[in-house]
Amino acid sequence: MNNNMEAIILVGGLGTRLRPLTKTIPKPLLPLVNVPMVERMIRKLPEKIDTVILAVNYGLEQMLEYFKKTNVGRKVIIVPEKEPLGTGGAMKNCEKYITGTTAVFNGDVVTSINLDEMIEYHKSKEAKGTLALWEVENPNRFGVVKLVKGEILKFQEKPPRGEELSNLINAGTYILEPEIISIIPENEKISIERDIFPKIVGNGLHGIPFEGYFIDAGTPESYLEANFKLLDTNIESENNELKNKVQVHETSKVVDSIIGPNVVIGPDVFIEKSVISNTVILSDSKIYGSTINNSIIGPNISLNHDVENTIIAPEGEKIF
Ligand code: GDD
Ligand code: MG
Repeated sequence: MNNNMEAIILVGGLGTRLRPLTKTIPKPLLPLVNVPMVERMIRKLPEKIDTVILAVNYGLEQMLEYFKKTNVGRKVIIVPEKEPLGTGGAMKNCEKYITGTTAVFNGDVVTSINLDEMIEYHKSKEAKGTLALWEVENPNRFGVVKLVKGEILKFQEKPPRGEELSNLINAGTYILEPEIISIIPENEKISIERDIFPKIVGNGLHGIPFEGYFIDAGTPESYLEANFKLLDTNIESENNELKNKVQVHETSKVVDSIIGPNVVIGPDVFIEKSVISNTVILSDSKIYGSTINNSIIGPNISLNHDVENTIIAPEGEKIF
């Protein structure tokens, strides 16, 4: 029997909240500790997922180019959308490439979910769909579920504050049977969260809370947080640089500077006489005599003044 599975990764969003950075680099290709977000997600997949389907809209050219030159050890199928089809429409657009139970991911989340366990749980419940769930204090900017004995009985996408049915949110990772994708209307803009999940609750839709970490890396603050969390997970290392939660790419150079904590420096960066903390510096940047905190700088930026809470990208600057 063939146990292999496909995964669909939804990577079509505009990345508006990370502008101006995402004007030149589509969100899925933004590096998290020097590895593009989507590549990180693919490399973490269990071995039995041998085919990865990328539902792409914005950033198609760059995505095609990236996967042409990068071998991620799996078959990668890039499925373009002419117009953004929404999360459900994008899945429907990938339907012809799936052969059975399928894992689906929002491409912008960084989590500690154990996918093998989730697949096993899904099978043991004979569920039509299983959603990974995460507990938060303020659920209203997420999808919120009412979970009773492991079954999802209600789904609310971004409910108004005060109307949330629980603190359990949709963590953007699903195991779905093909029949769920088959009920999505074709060639229409469809949100799986608004148009499909609320219709199938109570009818084989299960949820499984997990522990560890969950970060939706779609805002400047959470993009930084995701980088720092990934540095954190390396901290067991003997390497002193990592203990101080710093990663400097081997092609970069730092002179007479104080770096850390929480700093990621990408390839071909040069830094002199600077103090940098809680910051990601992207490739090919030059930093001289600057104190930088809580910022995202680059790629290809020259900087010689102090910066805080700011994105400085080739297409402009934004304070957050
Ligand atoms: N291909 C394609 N086409 N992908 C899309 C489209 C589209 O039209 N629209 C969004 N996506 C992708 C985004 O790139 C992202 O990876 C994912 O779908 C989710 O979209 P977001 O725009 O990031 O949604 P969100 O963060 O507001 O909410 C979603 O994620 C939360 C968890 O982080 C929802 O799924 C919530 O229910 C969930 O709690
Ligand atoms: Mg998101």
